Amino acid sequence: MRQEADFFDVFKETLDKLDGDGILLVAGDPPNPMTIGWGTLGYIWHRQIMTVLVRPTRYTFSLMEAARDFSVCVLPDSFTKELAICGTRSGRDTDKVEMCNFHMEKGLRGDSSFIAESSLHFECRIVHRHPLDPATLNPAILTRNYPLRDFHMVYYGEIRGIFRG
Ligand SMILES: Cc1cc2nc3c(=O)[nH]c(=O)nc-3n(C[C@H](O)[C@H](O)[C@H](O)COP(=O)(O)O)c2cc1C
Repeated sequence: MRQEADFFDVFKETLDKLDGDGILLVAGDPPNPMTIGWGTLGYIWHRQIMTVLVRPTRYTFSLMEAARDFSVCVLPDSFTKELAICGTRSGRDTDKVEMCNFHMEKGLRGDSSFIAESSLHFECRIVHRHPLDPATLNPAILTRNYPLRDFHMVYYGEIRGIFRG
C-alpha cells in the first residue's frame, strides 16, 4: 500500500539519486522506463512542478510527446544494474520492464504507470514543454553537452501526487 509523501520531505533523497545512478522517467502505454540524471523540483505558477529533460533521439521522447501524464520513480540503492539497463537500452527494441523484472501498477492520480519496486514515485501532468534554445544557452554548457546539437525538450510536470512504497 503506497503512502502519500510530503513535497518538502522528498527533496534530498530524490536529488541525491538524480545526481547519482539516476531515477526513472516512466511514460507510455505500455510503459517504458528511461534513466534520467537531470531535472528540477520547485514552484512555478503557484504549483509544485517537476521538470525533466528528454533528448529527441530517445524513444521516450515520442512517448512524452503523445502523453498527458508521466511518472518519475526513485529506486532503492540495490537497483544499480536496472538503472544502467534503462539508461543504455531503448524501449524501441527492448522490453525494459520485462528485462528488469519490474512490476508496473496503474497511477493513483493519472494516466501514467509506476514501478511497484520504487521506494518513492511522483505522478505528474504535463502543463508546459519547450525545446532548449541554443541561442540563449551558456556557450560552455552548449559545447560540453550538445556536440550533436540534440537539444533536450524540457517538460514541466505538475506534481499531482508523491507516494512512498
Ligand atoms: C545516469 C544516466 C542519466 C541519464 N539522463 C538522461 C536525461 O536526463 N535525459 C535524457 O534524454 N537521457 C538521459 N540518459 C540517457 C537515456 O537514459 C538513454 O539514452 C536510454 O537508453 C533511452 O531510452 P529510451 O530510448 O527507451 O527512451 C541518461 C542515462 C544515464 C545512464
